[in-house]
Amino acid sequence: MSDPKRGMRRALTSYGDEAFSLFLRKAFIKAMGYTDDALDRPVIGITNTFSGYNACHRNVPELIEAVKRGVMLAGGLPIEFPTISLHESFSHPTSMYLRNLMSIDVEEMIRAQPMDAVVLIGGCDKTVPALLMGAASANTPAIVLVTGPMITGSHRGERLGACTDCRRFWGKYRAGELDEREITEINGALAPSAGTCMVMGTASTMACMTEALGMMLPGGAAAPAVHADRLRAAEATGARAVGLAKDRLTPEQIMTPRAFENALRMLLAIGGSTNAIVHIAAVAGRLGIEVDLEAFDRLGRDTPVLVDLKPTGQHYMEDLFKAGGVTTILREIRPLLNEDCLTVNGRTLGENIDAAPAPFPQDVVRPFADPIFREGGIAVLRGNIAPNGAIIKQSAANPTLLQHTGRAVVFASLEDLAERIDSDDLDVAADDVLVLQSAGPKGAPGMPESGYLPIPRKLARQGVKDMVRISDARMSGTAFGTIVLHVSPESAMGGPLALIRNGDLIKLDTEARRIDLLIDEKELEARRLAWQPPPPRAEDDRGYRKLFLESVEQAERGCDFDFLKPPATTRTPTR
Ligand code: FES
Repeated sequence: MSDPKRGMRRALTSYGDEAFSLFLRKAFIKAMGYTDDALDRPVIGITNTFSGYNACHRNVPELIEAVKRGVMLAGGLPIEFPTISLHESFSHPTSMYLRNLMSIDVEEMIRAQPMDAVVLIGGCDKTVPALLMGAASANTPAIVLVTGPMITGSHRGERLGACTDCRRFWGKYRAGELDEREITEINGALAPSAGTCMVMGTASTMACMTEALGMMLPGGAAAPAVHADRLRAAEATGARAVGLAKDRLTPEQIMTPRAFENALRMLLAIGGSTNAIVHIAAVAGRLGIEVDLEAFDRLGRDTPVLVDLKPTGQHYMEDLFKAGGVTTILREIRPLLNEDCLTVNGRTLGENIDAAPAPFPQDVVRPFADPIFREGGIAVLRGNIAPNGAIIKQSAANPTLLQHTGRAVVFASLEDLAERIDSDDLDVAADDVLVLQSAGPKGAPGMPESGYLPIPRKLARQGVKDMVRISDARMSGTAFGTIVLHVSPESAMGGPLALIRNGDLIKLDTEARRIDLLIDEKELEARRLAWQPPPPRAEDDRGYRKLFLESVEQAERGCDFDFLKPPATTRTPTR
């Protein structure tokens, strides 16, 4: 390859003598056993997100082998390189705290090393957003390959999976319905294979949205991690990466405002994870595109939930795969889509739908005219508690609580919550509203998935399954309940959430898209003036923690670092 800006000639180390830089680079890379012929091919980088801590990425080594096969079949030179790997249960204090760090790693390693295109292998919740954010900023041709969902497990004849059933059974254990022995048996059956959580949690949501966004090959989202089709998708992804390098098709050509609108339609139609709205805002933000929450809510008014998957429905990802995968969903919501958006295979979304296998009878994706929920899964709320917005996953809520007024029971922090939630002395009733403060992006820090406040043990034992819960935290995509999240501005910045006191009345009116504290404006102002920021913690003034606290933005802006984004020039959704 003679193009001075391609292959091994890209991104040379600075020695002040480019010819020498290339000479030295080749000397070292030849120690890997490559020939000059190999080194003259288009170079395809492959992110290696394998980690011994990350079971969701257990199959990454074999995926890399299949990607390499595809790259070589298409005439390229595949070179893998490591990036940060984030697993939800192995990321203290929370994976969201580390997402931006991973995105910086991805961006800088794509920039630093010679590659004409990059295959982004991810899967577990924060990895796909971080990969997309990094790739968007680097703007090198890129294509996503997910590790794929786990297959389901079984417990005493009942099908189950991570992690909706983790929460369901844990709730039963807390309520005294399961003993120690049975909960231990269940613990061993919830995650039975490599791959990501097999319900419509954040990983599955991001996979489906990435396919709708156009950054993944058609059919790439749903094939289980252990299925041969997952390896075939990997091989095809590698081969297409060479095509991307030749076509110089960049992320910003694919991830346009109209393409993000398609991804948001997908989020709504699948009843997807609330986390995805934060992640997609962060990815779009890297390209100067702002996600307009009001317009997103308008999309939700005419985008029904069609996919019958846990936590809102009954099936699992392997069932969606057998039902035709994301294409089956795209076909149903086709009239709502921007079909002319270019995708990573060089064809438009509409052309991909036309080229997909013919539809067949199935019961996982409902017809547009017979939805599971007549509106999209997520609604955007405003009110004096959340002037800059909050969200509720209405499709996963108890319908009788979507319009509710109740007395506030306030927890000042995660520590306070852990200390008092199960106390027999806690003054709480089933129709109260649980409020958690200081769990936002700066407050926790990292906006952990603690918005799914547990039902106080004494109420759980009485059979209470759901209550209205409000916080500036996030919630796992696998969770369910009448839960108001992402309240902005967050309480650690003096947002109104910080001003709520025990006994205040709170009104949730999902139909009107309102969440309000029913107190006098003068009283609210007096509390605002009296509010004191939480004292700084010892670990707040050094290292990554310092950078995070100084730079992280609020939920509606994607919780990205302000210095990683260009000024917003366009908005999405566009209608
Ligand atoms: Fe990795 Fe659920 S823990 S996808």
